[in-house]
Amino acid sequence: SSEKTYEHLLVSSPKPGVGFIELNRPKALNALCTPLILELNTALRAFQADSTIGAIVLTGSERAFAAGADIKEMKDLTFSAAYGNDFIESWSDLVTFLKKPLITAVNGYALGGGCELAMMGDILYAGPKAVFGQPEIKLGVIPGAGGSQRLTKAIGKVRAMETILTGDNISAKQAGEWGLAARVFETPKECVDGALATAEKIAGYSQIAVKACKEVVNKSQDLGIREGVEYERRVFHGLFGSKDQKIGMKAFAEKGKPEWSNE
Ligand code: CAA
Repeated sequence: SSEKTYEHLLVSSPKPGVGFIELNRPKALNALCTPLILELNTALRAFQADSTIGAIVLTGSERAFAAGADIKEMKDLTFSAAYGNDFIESWSDLVTFLKKPLITAVNGYALGGGCELAMMGDILYAGPKAVFGQPEIKLGVIPGAGGSQRLTKAIGKVRAMETILTGDNISAKQAGEWGLAARVFETPKECVDGALATAEKIAGYSQIAVKACKEVVNKSQDLGIREGVEYERRVFHGLFGSKDQKIGMKAFAEKGKPEWSNE
């Protein structure tokens, strides 16, 4: 199914174990219209279901990761249509079903829904000219795909409040300093290549252990420290039931290289 062709995406696997999705709607700076989101959902689900894929990279173009939800599509939307059809709710599905790590490599504009999509990744990398922001206030609305929650967790309340209330942009440098981006690269290509290299590294580990890592780190976002540590310990104990724990620790003891079974 990775072979499928899409209207708004380029989908490939440029490195072993790595799924690669490029948003490809250049005329609208990758504005996230509903057909694009549906395609993204399909592509991510295909990689989730593909046992040869261990990690996924999502990027846009040099000019724009994504300039937001599609304003032209939204401008005549009514409350009853938005509420009645759960507008934007399908966006949340993108990350809730995805158990494999997703690295978002951001060059150019990541505004509104684009910033929110970038933050849905498990690891965010930025190129030198990445521009983040939640400009919804300028359109008479508010972030609608998790921006007020994820940006606040990422950079803290006062910075998120300032960003969301002013609609001002966050530069790549600031994103790095504030912890919104895990790394800031010197060129757009290095950003994407860096994301692919990290994805390849992750894809080289036991898929069972990788899945558990992602699960427990994500739990820290919802649980208090005590419950979170207890949750982690349960999952840690559970991994002693996996073959890959035996394979990994035996290989270490014998100074060999583990050949993961993903079991
Ligand atoms: N929706 C629909 N079309 C968009 C778009 C968007 N979010 N962003 C850009 N485009 C389109 C433009 O309309 C333009 O199309 P035409 O050539 O047909 O006129 C094309 O992309 C190129 O854009 P610009 O000519 O504006 O390019 P620029 O370089 O002058 O400016 C920009 C770039 C600063 C990103 C500017 O396009 C912009 O401000 N875009 C809107 C950003 C925004 O407000 N995003 C938030 C959307 S609301 C949201 O996302 C809600 C949510 O939380 C889910």
